[in-house]
Amino acid sequence: MKGYVTLTAPPAKRRWKGVAVAVVLALVVFSMLVTLAFLLGLHNRLPYGYSSEDRAPSESGFRSFEHLDTVGGGEHQSSEGAESRINDLVRIFGHSLDVTENLTTQPDVTPKSDSKETTSTSKVLTSPLVEQKNQPSTNSRNNEVGKKNPTQGSSRDETDKPCQVEFGSYCLWSSEHKEVMKDTKVKRVKDQLFVARAYYPSVAKLKRQEKLSREMKQNIQDHERMLSEAISDADLPPLVEKKIQKMDQTIARAKASVLDCNNVDKKLRQILDLTEDEAHFHMKQSAFLYHLGIHTMPKSLHCLSMRLTVEYFKSPSLDTEQSHDHKLENPNLQHYVIFSKNILAVSVAINSTVMNSAETGNMVFHLVTNRQNYYALRLWFARNSFKKATIRIINIEDLDLKEQPDLLASEEFRVSIHASDQPSSLHMRTEYMSVFSPAHFLLPKIFKNLKRVVVLDDDVVVQRDLSSLWKLNMEGKVNGAVEFCRVRLGHLKSYLTNQNYESDSCAWLSGLNVVDLERWRELDVTRTFHQLLQKMGSRSDDSGRAAALPANLLAFQGLIYGLDDSWVLSGLGHDYGLDSNAIKHAGVLHYNGNMKPWLELGIPKYKTNWKNFLTKNERFMDQCNVNP
Ligand SMILES: *[C@@H]1O[C@H](CO)[C@@H](O)[C@H](O)[C@H]1NC(C)=O
Ligand SMILES: *[C@@H]1O[C@H](CO)[C@@H](O)[C@H](O)[C@H]1NC(C)=O
Repeated sequence: MKGYVTLTAPPAKRRWKGVAVAVVLALVVFSMLVTLAFLLGLHNRLPYGYSSEDRAPSESGFRSFEHLDTVGGGEHQSSEGAESRINDLVRIFGHSLDVTENLTTQPDVTPKSDSKETTSTSKVLTSPLVEQKNQPSTNSRNNEVGKKNPTQGSSRDETDKPCQVEFGSYCLWSSEHKEVMKDTKVKRVKDQLFVARAYYPSVAKLKRQEKLSREMKQNIQDHERMLSEAISDADLPPLVEKKIQKMDQTIARAKASVLDCNNVDKKLRQILDLTEDEAHFHMKQSAFLYHLGIHTMPKSLHCLSMRLTVEYFKSPSLDTEQSHDHKLENPNLQHYVIFSKNILAVSVAINSTVMNSAETGNMVFHLVTNRQNYYALRLWFARNSFKKATIRIINIEDLDLKEQPDLLASEEFRVSIHASDQPSSLHMRTEYMSVFSPAHFLLPKIFKNLKRVVVLDDDVVVQRDLSSLWKLNMEGKVNGAVEFCRVRLGHLKSYLTNQNYESDSCAWLSGLNVVDLERWRELDVTRTFHQLLQKMGSRSDDSGRAAALPANLLAFQGLIYGLDDSWVLSGLGHDYGLDSNAIKHAGVLHYNGNMKPWLELGIPKYKTNWKNFLTKNERFMDQCNVNP
């Protein structure tokens, strides 16, 4: 135990109180800023604004879209527009809702054309915003994009615009998942809604049909509620079949009782005219919901972190860490390292590891986090026990480092590469990759006395006893990882111009990594990494972020020990089509991608595997409405 852990001396009460007040104040100020930003509509930029919070939006969300452009072929020109577009969407969204509402409750109001409004709002916003925001993230190959955008601003036609231009990265996302996202039921609900809306005004006028009219209105509202939360069938509530049936019956009765078909026909035509607007609206709505989904959960996570921090300072007696001092640096124990700012994620990662291990008394988990989450994590792990495992929280800002890495958790990238080996092929495919963050390269420094550590990402669920990893003979390699041969170094050649590399060698993924710290020190991988980063980072204009991927891969070139593929199944955060058998048998499930299981956006069918290991009946989670 060097100076890693602060606050090990309770007697220094006054100083301690000072720290408490400062941290709580900082958190309060921060939360006010977040709220303010949200209210001011800055949340369309949250991927950056929230960066001090949870990794979901910040470190894996949009950055990956940008990397898509910079690392890949740079042919996806639209993602830059996305963020500023959402700003428009949020404004328009409210308006569109009005229109829909009036349709149902005041059926005789002639629908206003909302597309006109739409156009004017976006015109105002587009040119300056898009250009500004484009500059930092566009690299030279994307220059065309920068030139294109202003023209779009001047001659826009809302309905004719291709999806990509209008919705940017959301559109890429949605078209990628089109085949696998089932939405027949959603469409059926929508159809019913149209018909019901057409009949409703006529029914409402009928005398002695108050009951039917009320029922219809109720059904319409039910349907609207379901649709407001559903993009795909999986999002619909379990009762949907019943509601569809009920609506069918109501519509049948309405058909039987409405004799004057003229009105219905007129209304139906009106609605059909509107359908185009409506379709447009729904597209906007789902884009809006998609982004909202990313952001809502982190807010409650933030609340959780705050509540726990306040509680920590109210009940200092809960500190139990000192009692394990002798274990923390004992190289004969099994040491696991997780870099994270996310309490829930890290809790699940650890719980799933211990629950699936035969012996836990020899396990030591080191959680490396930042000051903002440090106290919350301390309290969380004091309140919750994980069998006999020892858990130590490390505040990276307390370490004696020359430079504080601004990123903790593993970095995620989306890489676009040519689908076939012929470079002339236009077809691109997108691969999701996660690699070490700059903080990971401090491992040999943070754990000076340890020989081997197993590094987990915080978005994993462990399903197998990991103890065999400690007996692994790594044959002098540094990093035991699953290899990812769908991406080879040769695919990234635009980044590797002046480097020596084996173009056939496979990429690897973070998630589960066995790291030989002794070899790492011997070969000084950290220095290699920083040199590479400097060389490559200076060529790209987005502060070297994109260079992190190739630098990672090159730094470990020839130093990867390939773990058996059955150890890790990746993609639970982006791939709807994973085989359920594979999920069942994988050693570790890695939720890499944007759709993290703790977000509403998470892929529903993969969520249970994660939720199974979540703490239940935790008071603070209830208070903060954390209910992933
Ligand atoms: C909806 O109806 C209300 C009340 O009749 C009206 O004030 C409002 O302007 C309508 N909104 C739209 C968008 O038509
Ligand atoms: C760990 O997971 C089990 C289910 O496998 C659950 O019952 C328990 O509450 C979890 N414990 C913590 C501390 O999260």
